[in-house]
Amino acid sequence: MSENIQLSDRAYVSHVEACLRANLNKGLWQLRDLVRNCQGAYPSLVLDILNRMGSELLRSEVEAWSRRVADPSLDSFGALDGIEGNPVLSSWYFTARACRRIERLWDWSTHRIAFLGTPRVYDWFSSSNLGASRVLLDLDALVTQKLKEAHGGDLIVNYDVKDELPHNLVRQFTCVVCDPPWYLDDYHLWIRRSRELAAGGVLCITVYPALVKPAAAGERQSILREIAQDSVSLTLLSEFLEYEIPSFELAQLAEAGVTDLDWWKVADLAIAQLTKSPPAIAPTRQPKKKDGTWHEVDIGSLRIFINAAIQERRDGPLLIPAHDTGILPSPSRREPALQHVNVMTSRGHGFICGDVTKLRLILETFSEVLAANRDPNLAIGPMNIDPESLKTLLSVLRLPGGS
Ligand SMILES: C[S@@+](CC[C@H](N)C(=O)[O-])C[C@H]1O[C@@H](n2cnc3c(N)ncnc32)[C@H](O)[C@@H]1O
Repeated sequence: MSENIQLSDRAYVSHVEACLRANLNKGLWQLRDLVRNCQGAYPSLVLDILNRMGSELLRSEVEAWSRRVADPSLDSFGALDGIEGNPVLSSWYFTARACRRIERLWDWSTHRIAFLGTPRVYDWFSSSNLGASRVLLDLDALVTQKLKEAHGGDLIVNYDVKDELPHNLVRQFTCVVCDPPWYLDDYHLWIRRSRELAAGGVLCITVYPALVKPAAAGERQSILREIAQDSVSLTLLSEFLEYEIPSFELAQLAEAGVTDLDWWKVADLAIAQLTKSPPAIAPTRQPKKKDGTWHEVDIGSLRIFINAAIQERRDGPLLIPAHDTGILPSPSRREPALQHVNVMTSRGHGFICGDVTKLRLILETFSEVLAANRDPNLAIGPMNIDPESLKTLLSVLRLPGGS
C-alpha cells in the first residue's frame, strides 16, 4: 500500500473484517486473541464487527470471547504503579514482558542511553542498573517526579519534544529508546530529536501496526523510510512490544462493552544504526506547538486535565459531557467527540467546560478538602455550581450524589 493511500472508512472496516475472518478461520475464538491479531484495530470496532456477524457465530463461542486468562507476567511493577494514565500525553506503558524483551536485545553495559518518552522502560533499566548511564526525557510531570523520587542518581528531565533539546544532551548518547504518540507528525519530530541525541548511535523506536487507523499502513512505510534514510542499517522486529491498557482506555473500553481484555495492543520495534550526520531534512509539518497547555489537578489518584486555550463557550452549565455519560468512545485524537473537549480525566472522561478558571478553583478546593479528610460539602458550599454539573462532578469524583 503506498504512502499516500488513506483507506476510506468503509474500505478500512472491510480490511479489519477480512483480518478478523482470517483469524476466526485459524481457530482463534477469544476476543482477546482476535483483538491481538487484528493489527491494532480498536477492540470496540472488532466487537462491533463480531456482533454484526452474529448469525455466523455460535453463542457459546461468543461467550468464550471475554474469558480472562491469568498471566503473572502482566502484573504491574515499578515506580509508576498506581499512577493513572495521562490521555493528553498518550501514556501507553509497556508490559513487564515487553521491557524484559528490550533488556535482552543485547549487552547494554557500555551504552549511554536516552529514554525519550519511555518512562516505563527507563524504570525497568534503572531498577536493574542497566547501561553505563541513563537519562529520561518526558513531559509528564507527575511521572518524572515519581521517577526522580525512585531513582535518585540519574538525570530525569521534564521535557517537551517540541522544544529544542538542552544543549548539554545533544550527541551525548549511544542509544535512544523512544515511543512517540502514534501520529505521523509526532514521529517526524521524535525521530529528529532522537538523531540529535544519538547521532552515530542506535535508535530503538516503536512502529504502530497497519490497522490502527485507516492511514496506518501508508504511515508505517513513511516512518520506516524516514528512519532508513539516515541509517546504516534497519531491522524491524514484528510484534515485539505489547502495552498495558491505561486507566482512561480501560474505562472507555468498558463503556463500549469490552471488558477483561488484559493487554491487547502490540507494536513492532524498529532498530536502526544511525549515521553520524545530523538530521538531513527538517520535518515538513510539526505537531501544533500550541494546542494549549493542559493544567493538571489531582484528586487522590484521579488525574484531571484542563485546557484554558480550548474554551469556546461561556454560557450554560459548567460542564457538558462530550459524549453520552461523559466517557469518551475512544482515546484517539481522531475521535470526533474530542473536538471541543477541554477537560479530560485519567478515567476516560471528556467534557466541554464553559469556565475553566472556575473549574480549576473548584477542583483545587476539592483536592485540598479531600486530602485533609474533611467534608466535601465544604468545597461545594461556596462554589455556586449548577445542579447538573455538580452531579457530573460528584460522579467523576465518585462521591455520593453523583449521576
Ligand atoms: C506512548 S507513551 C510511551 C511509553 C512507553 N511505552 C513506556 O512504557 O515507557 C508516550 C510517552 O511520551 C510522553 N510524551 C508525550 N508527549 C510528549 C512530548 N510532547 N514531549 C515529551 N514527552 C512526551 C508521555 O508522557 C509518555 O510517557
